[in-house]
Amino acid sequence: MPSPPTSRQLLVTGASGFLGWYVCRAAAATFQVTGTYHRHPLSISGVNNQSLNLTDFGAIAAFFQTLQPDGVIHLAAESKPNACQMDPEGSRAINVTASVQLAELCAEAAIPYVFTSTDLVFDGHHAPYREADPVAPVSLYGKQKLEAEQEILRRYPQAAICRMSLMFGAAPTAPSFLQTFLEQIRRGEPIRLFTDEFRSPLSGRDAATGLLLALEKASGILHLGGGDRLSRYEFGLIMAEVFGLPQTLIQPCSQSDVPMPAPRPPDVSVDISRARALGFTPGNVREELIAIREGC
Ligand SMILES: NC(=O)c1ccc[n+]([C@@H]2O[C@H](COP(=O)([O-])OP(=O)(O)OC[C@H]3O[C@@H](n4cnc5c(N)ncnc54)[C@H](OP(=O)(O)O)[C@@H]3O)[C@@H](O)[C@H]2O)c1
Repeated sequence: MPSPPTSRQLLVTGASGFLGWYVCRAAAATFQVTGTYHRHPLSISGVNNQSLNLTDFGAIAAFFQTLQPDGVIHLAAESKPNACQMDPEGSRAINVTASVQLAELCAEAAIPYVFTSTDLVFDGHHAPYREADPVAPVSLYGKQKLEAEQEILRRYPQAAICRMSLMFGAAPTAPSFLQTFLEQIRRGEPIRLFTDEFRSPLSGRDAATGLLLALEKASGILHLGGGDRLSRYEFGLIMAEVFGLPQTLIQPCSQSDVPMPAPRPPDVSVDISRARALGFTPGNVREELIAIREGC
């Protein structure tokens, strides 16, 4: 693989996760990328992959000291709301404490820091949400991300806080809900999707582009969502159509039909005007699903 055009060193935490694959691949075109994993070793071509437990706070500082990065995109998290609800302390260590410690290290080194937050900081009753709208998370995951946002900005106001919408894609290293759904439908099994939960679904490749844009151009809060507001059911119908699968296997249901540990807001679709003004141009869901089908 040809060397990247600059020797700027970018640290990407959570490289072994769904979004990590997209971010590392996109960043490797312009940075020397070091991607960290915890439980799932990985290999991404052109990326220096290293093990790091981000809840070992001494280890983070030592890692930082050795690497001396020129920028950090922090993706590592306990990203499943139900898992956070069931393990409040363990999830807080990675979602809040580690995220704040990384912000302090970036502040000391005066380098860009991008933190991945979530649309779930909102209660879902006043969409579409802009960056300055009042926050009111209903799940512990949303509360942890909000606490991290506030602490990070208090200690390092130049940090970029990217609130990511629900993401979809086909990272080979960490299957997303899209792959699970497709496998289920291909087996002829129906899937039930909410008609009363709305998001602004964002493809992994657009998310990576947005985060790299934020690294270069943003500070403060930035909403990174896709161009459409869709219910999960509407998303499923488009997915089946694009992949040539029977739409009859996509069945409507309501949030109240599926009791889960973490409460879910009804509509956390976001307004992405601020990101668009910085040059962010996400595709619509149909275009992005076609790109995934074509292996882009
Ligand atoms: N996916 C979405 O739809 C979505 C929506 C909104 C916001 N977000 C946010 O976007 C970011 C990326 O999400 P994602 O879907 O890529 O998450 P993911 O697939 O669940 O990956 C999580 C990553 O965090 C790492 N990690 C977890 N605990 C760790 C620890 N103690 N030390 C070091 N690394 C640790 C995991 O490493 P191992 O697997 O190697 O253990 C993995 O690489 C997260 O901040 C998430 O909260 C995601």
